[in-house]
Amino acid sequence: MKILVVGSGGREHALCWKIAKSSLCDKLYSAPGNGGISETAELVDIKADDVEGLLKFALEKKIDLTVVGPEIPLVLGIVDKFESEGLKIFGPSKDRALIEGSKVFSKELMKKWGIPTANFKVFDNAGEALKYISGRSVPLVVKADGLCAGKGVLICKTEAIARDAVNKMMVKRSFGDAANKIIIEECLVGEEASIIVVSDGKNVVPLASSQDHKRVFDDDKGPNTGGMGAYSPAPAVTDAVFKKIMDKVISPMIKGMAAEGRPYKGVLYAGIMLTEEGPKVLEFNARFGDPETQAIMPRLKSDLVDLMMRSIDGRLENYSLDWDPRPCVSVVAASGGYPGNYKKGIEIKGADLVKAMKDVVVFHAGTKSGRRATDGSSTFLTDGGRVLNVTALGSDIKDAVNNCYNALGKISFDGMHYRRDIGHRAVKSSN
Ligand code: AMP
Ligand code: GLY
Repeated sequence: MKILVVGSGGREHALCWKIAKSSLCDKLYSAPGNGGISETAELVDIKADDVEGLLKFALEKKIDLTVVGPEIPLVLGIVDKFESEGLKIFGPSKDRALIEGSKVFSKELMKKWGIPTANFKVFDNAGEALKYISGRSVPLVVKADGLCAGKGVLICKTEAIARDAVNKMMVKRSFGDAANKIIIEECLVGEEASIIVVSDGKNVVPLASSQDHKRVFDDDKGPNTGGMGAYSPAPAVTDAVFKKIMDKVISPMIKGMAAEGRPYKGVLYAGIMLTEEGPKVLEFNARFGDPETQAIMPRLKSDLVDLMMRSIDGRLENYSLDWDPRPCVSVVAASGGYPGNYKKGIEIKGADLVKAMKDVVVFHAGTKSGRRATDGSSTFLTDGGRVLNVTALGSDIKDAVNNCYNALGKISFDGMHYRRDIGHRAVKSSN
C-alpha cells in the first residue's frame, strides 16, 4: 500500500515509525513531515491544512490510505473530500469532527446522552455571560467554542479573572470567531488521563491508557503547553476505572453519535478528569493525542495499518490489540523560551548517540534537516517549540523513566529545556 501521513509533529513521527513497520506498507509519504520523519517517509511539501493540495497529491500518486494527524484538516472536511473521490482515509468526517471543532456541540451531546462532564452553560453574548459569573463560586472555567490550538480554555480562580476571560473572548475577540459562543463550566478536580479508542462507527477498540503533562515546569507549574511528556499505561486508570470510562463515556458517545445519524469512524480521544465522583469528560478530540501517541506506539504490537483499514471498512467487531506490557515514557525537549517566543535553526547534538540504545526511540517534532555551521555536514536543526520526544520502554515505570532520562542526557541544543518529573505520579503509585 501507498500511505500518506498528514502532519508534522511528534505524533506524526510516532505514527510514521509504526506504519513503516507494517507489512502492508510499501511506500510512505508525509506532508509536510519533519526532519526525523524524513528518515522513514518521503516528505511532501504540502501543509496539513491545504486540503485541496493534499487531495491532488493523493489522487496523482494513487494513495491507498491517508492518515490524518492534526484536527484542523479533519474539521475542514478532509475526510469528506477524499471519500467523495473514492480515496480511503482514516478519521471522522467533518460533521463528526465537530466533537472537537465545537465544544458547544460536544457538551450538548454529552448532556443529551448522559455522559458525565462538568456542569456548564453556553453563552453567545458577553452581557449574559458576565451576569452569570456574578456571585458564582470560583474557580470557573471559560472555554471558547471553536479550535484555538489548545489555548481556548481559561481556568479562572476569581470572578474578576473570569470576567476578564469573557471580555478577552467576546469583547476584544482575541480568539476571533472561535469565541462567537463560549462555555462557562465548573472546575473539576482530580488526576487527568487520556483514553484513546478507534471506532468503525459501531465497534470500539481501545488503545492503552496514557497521561499527558500539560504545564511547562516540574510539579505542574507554569503555563500550559501542547504537552511536555507522557507515559503509558496510566496506573490511575485501574481496570475498574477503565471499565467505567468505557461504559459511561465511550460506549454512550459511540452509540449517541450513531443515533444522531453521525456514526463515528476514526480516533475518539476522551480527556478525562478522575474526580471523587468518578470519571468526567474534559474534552473529546477527533484524533490521536500528542504527546500521548509517542508513549503509546512503542507499546503497540499489532499492525496499526490493519487497525486503521478495519476502522474505515467497518471490520472492528471482535478485534483487539496486542500490547507490550512494559511501560513507556516520552519526554519533550523544548526550545529555550517555549511556550513563549523561541529561536529556530539551532543544531541538535547527540541524537545519533541515542539511536543505538535499546528500547529507546527519538520522535522528532519541530526539527528539520540542515547543515552544521562548522563543516557543512548534515545534521538536524530545531524548527519549532517542542523539538524532540525522547521515548523509552522499561521493565517497570522507574526503569522506563531512567532509560528515558539517560538517553535525553546525551542530547543537547542551545536553550534546550525539559521537565525532570515526567511519570512522577506513576512512579509514586508504584512505590
Ligand atoms: P480542554 O481543551 O477542554 O481539554 O482543556 C484543556 C485543559 O484544561 C484540560 O486538559 C484540563 O487540564 C483543563 N480543563 C478543561 N476543562 C476543565 C474543567 N472543567 N475543570 C478543570 N480543568 C479543566
Ligand atoms: N495531549 C493533548 C492533546 O492531544 O490534545
